[in-house]
Amino acid sequence: MLTFLLNAIFCATYLFPINSHAFTKREMSHYRDRIKSMFYHAYNNYLENAYPYDELRPLTCDGQDTWGSFSLTLIDALDTLLILGNHTEFQRVATLLQDNVNFDIDVNASVFETNIRVVGGLLSAHLLSKQAGITVEEGWPCSGPLLRLAEDAARKLLPAFHTPTGMPYGTVNLLRGVSPTETPITCTAGVGTFILEFSTLSHLTGDPVFEDVARKALVALWKTRSDIGLVGNHIDVITSKWVAQDAGIGAGIDSYFEYLLKGAIMLQDEELLNMFHEFDMSIRNYTKFDDWYLWVQMHKGTVSMPIFQSLEAFWPGLQSLIGDIESATRTFHNYCTVWRQFGGLPEFYSIPQGYTVDKREGYPLRPELIESAMYLYKATGNPAFLQLGRDAVESIEKISQVKCGFASVKDVRDHKLDNRMESFFLAETIKYLYLLFDPDNFIHNTGTTFELGGAHGDCILGAGGYIFNTEAHPLDPAALHCCSKDQDERSELQDILLSLTEHYKPSMDQSDEALGDRNSERIPLSPRERRKAIRLSCPVQSFSARFAVMGQVFSDST
Ligand SMILES: *[C@@H]1O[C@H](CO)[C@@H](O)[C@H](O)[C@H]1NC(C)=O
Ligand SMILES: *[C@@H]1O[C@H](CO)[C@@H](O)[C@H](O)[C@H]1NC(C)=O
Ligand SMILES: *[C@@H]1O[C@H](CO)[C@@H](O)[C@H](O)[C@H]1NC(C)=O
Repeated sequence: MLTFLLNAIFCATYLFPINSHAFTKREMSHYRDRIKSMFYHAYNNYLENAYPYDELRPLTCDGQDTWGSFSLTLIDALDTLLILGNHTEFQRVATLLQDNVNFDIDVNASVFETNIRVVGGLLSAHLLSKQAGITVEEGWPCSGPLLRLAEDAARKLLPAFHTPTGMPYGTVNLLRGVSPTETPITCTAGVGTFILEFSTLSHLTGDPVFEDVARKALVALWKTRSDIGLVGNHIDVITSKWVAQDAGIGAGIDSYFEYLLKGAIMLQDEELLNMFHEFDMSIRNYTKFDDWYLWVQMHKGTVSMPIFQSLEAFWPGLQSLIGDIESATRTFHNYCTVWRQFGGLPEFYSIPQGYTVDKREGYPLRPELIESAMYLYKATGNPAFLQLGRDAVESIEKISQVKCGFASVKDVRDHKLDNRMESFFLAETIKYLYLLFDPDNFIHNTGTTFELGGAHGDCILGAGGYIFNTEAHPLDPAALHCCSKDQDERSELQDILLSLTEHYKPSMDQSDEALGDRNSERIPLSPRERRKAIRLSCPVQSFSARFAVMGQVFSDST
């Protein structure tokens, strides 16, 4: 109860506060230190008590396999080590994984989870390994031990895509492929959440099969949308029939929309962008009420569940990528009031009753609201978003820290705990919290620094514009152009970047504000949209020329 009261006080002045508390440099650094300590408390306890199992069980101080048998927490936490500045441990773990992880195992694995956590984690670590001081092999980033591991894992998933529709099964046996008794029913996100990892793989390895299957699945889903432009949340991958017809932005659907938009940005792909915009319009039209998003019947648009799900809290962050800061902020504010009520977000929250929903009272330390705070803070600089981060640190420490790690909250009403620490706590929750309080982190690079890499030292890497997959693994979009056989494209890109950095000499006193204004000079937008659209939607990337075009497309959405 005490923690609850404390939380209520900490959250007392949320958004639109009259005197929003600005954080001093010292306070920022204080929270970074606190978040680092949280990371190491969880991470070291995983290593001591749980490795090589997938997850730590924080109440019994031991480990268990959950999503497979691949030391999942270690794979998921690897890039967080680098973001926290721990190069030596990153190097040690990268070697450990290369020597010990093996995907030739008789395990029934979730195609979705294996992709976002394992393939995504390994790809991100592969792309960051030079930054982490690893002596990369010749040909990197088009080859390397972590890339081979990622490719190996992804190949194990490919049999799932052999269906009449191209939509994948939900589960695959890593050794034997899809079981003959496997159910053809899977969720929408399980069909539409591959394009970021799979297109990165295809570009790096030169094998188009990954991007092809991911795109085919996206297009197949698109064709099944209802007359009012919505998709349900479970579909039969053999017949394309919708089995569960609730449409919304949360569980079962969420990352499908996320990957359409992020895929559009990463691949500069207007087809994906148009799909996203069409869905976005229907979502606003049929599911949005008072800046909440409800669940509706996908054909009729009638409300089926007036609930807010914890997983939906990523939406304001995604909206910020298309420049819709105002709507994002209002929705974020709604979600914060729920956090304030419980010191965490229950899995489901009934909007009319203003309370939790039976059997869905847990908070497994999910990242989504913190993720949105990070994007919105980057977009606006409004310290109100830091306050959510502060509240998250305070309540997670108070409520879920135990001797051997951090435990999921079983029930936000009484803060009882569960014997589980999901790998996304280290991959996402801690990472987004840290990045929220570390505006100078290399991940926030706006193109002022970069390095040359690739087989002939002729491609540009680390210039920023990282795209986070749905497990918070950052992917460097510039790397997609690095292994292309097309030499012309590469030199064109390099010319663009070099000319960009010439105007762009970093100077000591260059504030974010100044950067924002320079961006707006380069990317023509309608004046009112200017600052909002730019600061986040198109983080300055190496492909600035093409982004100018995209910038206009993005701003049309509001
Ligand atoms: C990196 O992580 C390891 C393992 O937790 C720890 O022993 C070491 O002190 C860390 N180094 C830094 C610079 O934080
Ligand atoms: C995988 O699933 C199939 C079908 O349900 C089952 O027959 C098999 O025993 C499972 N294998 C493992 C290792 O759990
Ligand atoms: C929005 O909904 C109304 C009915 O509620 C419908 O007439 C209109 O066509 C919809 N617009 C879009 C873009 O879906």
